Amino acid sequence: MKKNKIVFAIQKQGRLKEDSMNYLRSMGLDFGSQQCEMRLKCTNANVEVLFVRDDDIPVYVYRKVADCGIVGANVLAEKSFPLITLRRLNFALCKLFIAVPQNAAFATLEDLNGLRIATSYPKILGEFLAQKAIKASITVLKGAVELAPSLNLADAICDLVQSGKTLRENGLKPLLPIMESEALLVCSTDSQQILNQINFTR
Ligand code: PRP
Ligand code: ZN
Repeated sequence: MKKNKIVFAIQKQGRLKEDSMNYLRSMGLDFGSQQCEMRLKCTNANVEVLFVRDDDIPVYVYRKVADCGIVGANVLAEKSFPLITLRRLNFALCKLFIAVPQNAAFATLEDLNGLRIATSYPKILGEFLAQKAIKASITVLKGAVELAPSLNLADAICDLVQSGKTLRENGLKPLLPIMESEALLVCSTDSQQILNQINFTR
């Protein structure tokens, strides 16, 4: 039987990329030198890797242009496509936090009432606030969210924290954890079969 090509979508640049490639190598896949920034062919199997923005990985997999993706649980939850999680990969461990200026008087969940919160995760944050009956206004930013309080664009932020360095550098402190995240191997609901061709060793 002819084997179909298996396509993985992984992060183009950032915290997930190197560990994602190492995970693919750990499955026995070999890759030559990268000729093109956005795609790479495996040299010992009919596998190709697409390098894309991590925010876009769920849609690549949902629309079946990639069979599998490696994406943070935070991005998967924000995009909410109905994908299957095949493995939790135990890297890119981080938490989504609500954080406030170090000198802020806000100390409790209730203190968030009436505040402006900047985030790249409006869906996750909106659901959290609704569930806790907190009325705050959400400002959506694509990046550099930690700058918003010092520019008086927001009173608080909701963003990923890994080491805590970015918060500290911007005079912020974590207030409340919203969700835990790690890298996940995901596939679409009907691409599971194709993955039987790959021997997942981890
Ligand atoms: C996340 C987050 C912070 C940083 C926190 O960005 O948005 O900027 O990491 O990490 P730290 O606690 O170790 O300083 P990410 O690398 O995911 O980039 P992106 O938000 O642009 O995708
Ligand atoms: Zn960020």
